[in-house]
Amino acid sequence: LDEGYQKTYKNVDELLPTLPRSKGWWLDQLLQYQGFWLSTYGIRGSMLIDDHFNPRPTDLIVATSPKCGTTWLRALVFSIINRNSFDFSDHPLRKANPRDLVHFLEAHIPCRFVYICRDPKDVLVSKWHFANKLRPKGVPPLSLEEAFDLFSKGVSHYGPFWDHVLGYWKASLESPKKVLCLKYEDVKKEPLGCVRKVANFLGVPFTPEEENKEIVEEIVKLCSFEHMSSQDVNKSDTRSQEKPISNSDFFRKGEAGDWVNHLSPQMSEILDQITEQKFQGTGFSF
Ligand code: A3P
Repeated sequence: LDEGYQKTYKNVDELLPTLPRSKGWWLDQLLQYQGFWLSTYGIRGSMLIDDHFNPRPTDLIVATSPKCGTTWLRALVFSIINRNSFDFSDHPLRKANPRDLVHFLEAHIPCRFVYICRDPKDVLVSKWHFANKLRPKGVPPLSLEEAFDLFSKGVSHYGPFWDHVLGYWKASLESPKKVLCLKYEDVKKEPLGCVRKVANFLGVPFTPEEENKEIVEEIVKLCSFEHMSSQDVNKSDTRSQEKPISNSDFFRKGEAGDWVNHLSPQMSEILDQITEQKFQGTGFSF
């Protein structure tokens, strides 16, 4: 490692013991850094980015809060941008999980952002299932009550969830050409319209010929939950040290509103109250 990187690693090591800590969702603890709850991995990543990432104006960042549709948005953006480079019948998304095509990076800077968020009630349910998949055998499962307690207090990766959404929402109002905010529920309801919106935002609108050839429909089909979750590459259940999360972990139900099958009326009411309070006067709602 060069000296600059070594310095950042040293700063991370010195900072970590000074930060407030909370019980985590799987084995890790979450640490509070600049108002947000992150894993040590997230903190190291964000400090490395602050110190060493030089974005180019043409860079594009796909930004999400976990369990809001990261996998889906990665697939959609990848297939929109590269639509003239690949044949749909032999597309990279048939052979690779989207995380291997659009890489992880936590950043804030002068390039464009496509952001997706989702009803926090569904985020909690998705994250609770996800956490229990990731907890090693022998560790008792995380109860829904515990997950609810952590999530509603703001203790979730990159949380408080509401502040994460608000940050991007406000940025999209201030810089609509730089930040596009999508909602999972809207993409579910109107996938064709949303794909056109992303393409317009990225400056690569669909041409009349492409519309005639139903390329938008092809992209929506390629990236649909049913299609993606049935590809062999995404059915694989293998975990390794470098990839402790398997490709199949990113696909569960893929629906809007599954929270009704899990949350008590009281839980849903409390989450709705927090949402209402946090977003009051911002023009944003789920
Ligand atoms: P559920 O647990 O509610 O099913 P992320 O990719 O940000 O980790 O989010 C995962 C959530 O998105 C999971 O939600 C997962 O099933 C859903 N998902 C993954 N791929 C999807 C797709 N192509 N279309 C719709 N939802 C998808």
